[in-house]
Amino acid sequence: MMIPNQSYCFSGIVVATLYFFILFSFVLQTLASPTLHQCRHDQRDALMEFKQEFPITESNPSLYDWTSWNKSRDCCSWKGVTCDAKSGKVISLDLFPAVLNNTLKPNSGLFKLQYLQNLSLSNLYGEIPSSLGNLSHLMYLDLFGNEFVGQIPASIGNLTQLSSLSLTNNHLSGKIPVSFANLTELSTLHLTNNYFESELPLDMSRLHNLEYVLLSRNSFSGPFPTSLFTIPSLQVVYLRQNQFKGPIEFGNTSSSSRLRALSLASNNFDGPIPESISKFLNLNILDLSFNHFIGAIPRSISQLANLSYLDLSDNKLEGEVPGCLWRLQLLKLTYNSFRSFGKPPEVFDSTQMNVLSLKSNSFRGPFPHWICKLRSLSLLDLSINSFSGLIPSCLRNITNLEVLNLRNNDFSGGLPDMCVKATNLKTLDVSWNQLEGKLSKSLINCKAMKVLNLGSNKFKDEFPSWLGSLPSLNVLFLRSNQFYGPLYDRHVSIGFQNLKVIDISKNDFTGTLPAFYFSSWSAMATSQYDNVYMEDFMVYVASYRNSMEIVHKGVDTSFSVIREDFMVIDFSGNKFGGQIPESIGSLRALRLLNLSSNAFTSGIPQSLANLTNLEALDLSRNQLSGQIPPDLGTLSFLSTMNFSHNNLEGPIPQSTQFQSQSCSSFMDNPRLFGLQGICGNHLAKNPTQHESEELSESEEQVINWIAAAIAYGPGVFCGLVIGQIFVMHEWFMEKFRRNKPRVVIRSAR
Ligand SMILES: *[C@@H]1O[C@H](CO)[C@@H](O)[C@H](O)[C@H]1NC(C)=O
Ligand SMILES: *[C@@H]1O[C@H](CO)[C@@H](O)[C@H](O)[C@H]1NC(C)=O
Ligand SMILES: *[C@@H]1O[C@H](CO)[C@@H](O)[C@H](O)[C@H]1NC(C)=O
Ligand SMILES: *[C@@H]1O[C@H](CO)[C@@H](O)[C@H](O)[C@H]1NC(C)=O
Ligand SMILES: *[C@@H]1O[C@H](CO)[C@@H](O)[C@H](O)[C@H]1NC(C)=O
Ligand SMILES: *[C@@H]1O[C@H](CO)[C@@H](O)[C@H](O)[C@H]1NC(C)=O
Ligand SMILES: *[C@@H]1O[C@H](CO)[C@@H](O)[C@H](O)[C@H]1NC(C)=O
Ligand SMILES: *[C@@H]1O[C@H](CO)[C@@H](O)[C@H](O)[C@H]1NC(C)=O
Ligand SMILES: *[C@@H]1O[C@H](CO)[C@@H](O)[C@H](O)[C@H]1NC(C)=O
Ligand SMILES: *[C@@H]1O[C@H](CO)[C@@H](O)[C@H](O)[C@H]1NC(C)=O
Ligand SMILES: *[C@@H]1O[C@H](CO)[C@@H](O)[C@H](O)[C@H]1NC(C)=O
Ligand SMILES: *[C@@H]1O[C@H](CO)[C@@H](O)[C@H](O)[C@H]1NC(C)=O
Repeated sequence: MMIPNQSYCFSGIVVATLYFFILFSFVLQTLASPTLHQCRHDQRDALMEFKQEFPITESNPSLYDWTSWNKSRDCCSWKGVTCDAKSGKVISLDLFPAVLNNTLKPNSGLFKLQYLQNLSLSNLYGEIPSSLGNLSHLMYLDLFGNEFVGQIPASIGNLTQLSSLSLTNNHLSGKIPVSFANLTELSTLHLTNNYFESELPLDMSRLHNLEYVLLSRNSFSGPFPTSLFTIPSLQVVYLRQNQFKGPIEFGNTSSSSRLRALSLASNNFDGPIPESISKFLNLNILDLSFNHFIGAIPRSISQLANLSYLDLSDNKLEGEVPGCLWRLQLLKLTYNSFRSFGKPPEVFDSTQMNVLSLKSNSFRGPFPHWICKLRSLSLLDLSINSFSGLIPSCLRNITNLEVLNLRNNDFSGGLPDMCVKATNLKTLDVSWNQLEGKLSKSLINCKAMKVLNLGSNKFKDEFPSWLGSLPSLNVLFLRSNQFYGPLYDRHVSIGFQNLKVIDISKNDFTGTLPAFYFSSWSAMATSQYDNVYMEDFMVYVASYRNSMEIVHKGVDTSFSVIREDFMVIDFSGNKFGGQIPESIGSLRALRLLNLSSNAFTSGIPQSLANLTNLEALDLSRNQLSGQIPPDLGTLSFLSTMNFSHNNLEGPIPQSTQFQSQSCSSFMDNPRLFGLQGICGNHLAKNPTQHESEELSESEEQVINWIAAAIAYGPGVFCGLVIGQIFVMHEWFMEKFRRNKPRVVIRSAR
């Protein structure tokens, strides 16, 4: 007997009326039956017995307020307990989020509460006892946030009233018991994130009340469960990250299907996407990514008027992208072989699309101008295709654009003045094209810019020192262009306070850097975990999955090394001269410093020994003189270093890091000594002779280093990428859910 939760929505009068009504009927009932609401003793004892099965002590707290669980109080008023108003039978027990921290015994007091309709328990482990079958009145069973192992007991078939079953996030395995066929009232089946292994039952049509079937992240195998889709009440089916295989077909799907969301992502489905997909007229979300589907997108997809999220990434699809898809909210077709675009309809709502990703397909020819009409785009990714010609300036009309990735195409001409209008850009990646000319200073209008990648083009300009004023700039790539002149302009303040990765290698930069040059780069001076950066990066890195690309290219370390605190300075392959600025020592979070192939002179600054996070240091091919500062031997993470081709002298520091380097890291420094351990006795005096022999070994080292960077940090980056399959999806789904409140995906809690 409770006031419904929604009562606050009612007007005051209605609430008051309701309240009096409830109070009145309560008084009436109390008069009629004085024992009303009183917990039955057998029920109270069973509850108490159940509680005593858990080792709740001060050192093993349950994080739950048990004070109301006192025998001198009516057990119907105990926290988490609800009784039937008339009979006093306990019908609901909700102990979430109590940390019960024990196994559930086969003779647990719980199973004496056989009138339970709702049961929610957390933080239990061990097996689910088959006595569960005793609770034959259960309608809602929620064992989500637990660590149950083993199989679902066959006795679950006794719970014929069960409407919602959630066993999400356990360690359950084995088969779905045959007795499941008994659960004809089941509407929500939530088994996400377990180890279930079997095939699904061949005929699921008996479960004719199913609405939500959430089986993602298990090891379900076997063919596509066609029979499931004949259930007309079905609304959401998630089968992602399982091992289903073979073709999909929808058979005798009811034409009145209510299916709104279907994800088959990350399985081994193959064959074409059937035309019969169009039977699901209410479909809103369709995710078939990471499978082996072949052929074209079925034409019938145009009949899915409510479709707004379509992810077909990572398949073997080809042909033309139907024009009707430009009205979706999210369209991801990455890693397929699509060649061309169907004409958009004459009239379509061009304000719908938020995310368009066509990365890694076989598109060619000029930039499709009509994309500029998609005014609500926030992410546009056309990377790894063969688009050519100019990047059109109409792109700046997409004022919501946050991520623009045109990487790895054949675009030529200049970079359009995006930031004149599209000032929300956070990521601009036009690397690996044929772009030329100068940069427009309007880039500083994009105040939110975090990642600017102009690498591997033919830009010819002075260093854009004015970018130093961008408050959020984290990543700046200018590598392999024709930038020239000095870095430091004394008329411009240095800025770059948020820079974490800078790669300006392989250009024609010249001049010297003042000793204080790096003092303002404060982000590299602290290695604080930065959530915001991380979140953006997860999205960026994950959505682009650059690691794969980098493995292919082998040369471009661009995003392979990026993680929240992987900070990089690569100035190699330029003509910088003078002293290495002493202020480099203030960038304590720096992981990689590459100043190779320049004309730096004088000694190696002592302050380098302050870079306690440094993992790779390349000073090779300069004109450095003096000793290697002995304190560099204290840098315990420094695993890759290269001092070769300089004029260094004196002893090599005696640390393990130094002694485990390859000989080629020191070669061509005629006055260095102490190389016996590194280069072998007979060559210790002049490592130069060793050069040709060592070459293959050193090449190997470089490759190893790149590999290490990619795989770096026990899966920090890889972890992100692997995790993304889930994270990204959930992220998009979250975003999608927020934007489209009419799609309410009911979750366990
Ligand atoms: C669970 O119980 C074990 C001992 O049985 C104890 O070591 C552990 O800390 C407990 N966990 C929690 C979260 O209370
Ligand atoms: C139970 O409640 C009684 C009376 O309210 C109180 O005296 C007693 O200490 C409580 N017992 C426990 C174990 O909290
Ligand atoms: C199952 O319920 C009956 C009462 O209906 C009870 O006697 C029995 O002990 C229960 N079984 C278990 C394992 O608790
Ligand atoms: C059981 O749970 C359902 C769904 O959460 C809820 O609507 C219902 O009111 C609950 N019943 C009881 C007796 O708590
Ligand atoms: C099934 O439920 C009935 C009561 O509805 C009970 O008597 C019987 O013991 C239960 N069977 C199992 C296997 O738990
Ligand atoms: C299926 O439900 C019926 C009662 O509806 C029951 O008698 C039977 O034991 C159940 N089967 C299983 C396998 O639990
Ligand atoms: C579809 O339904 C018809 C008639 O109900 C039946 O003959 C046919 O075998 C069904 N096809 C499939 C694939 O289930
Ligand atoms: C699309 O969704 C709207 C509202 O959610 C609904 O009224 C309409 O019937 C749906 N259209 C189709 C073709 O199912
Ligand atoms: C940008 O959009 C405006 C209309 O909003 C249009 O007049 C203009 O031509 C567009 N600019 C470009 C470069 O396409
Ligand atoms: C430093 O840069 C040079 C040239 O760009 C490259 O060959 C070398 O591998 C880089 N060193 C490290 C440690 O990355
Ligand atoms: C390096 O560290 C030492 C002591 O920790 C400090 O005195 C010195 O100023 C630091 N140098 C730089 C450039 O940060
Ligand atoms: C060190 O740098 C030189 C010249 O850049 C290169 O030839 C050599 O292979 C490098 N050694 C290692 C171990 O990377």
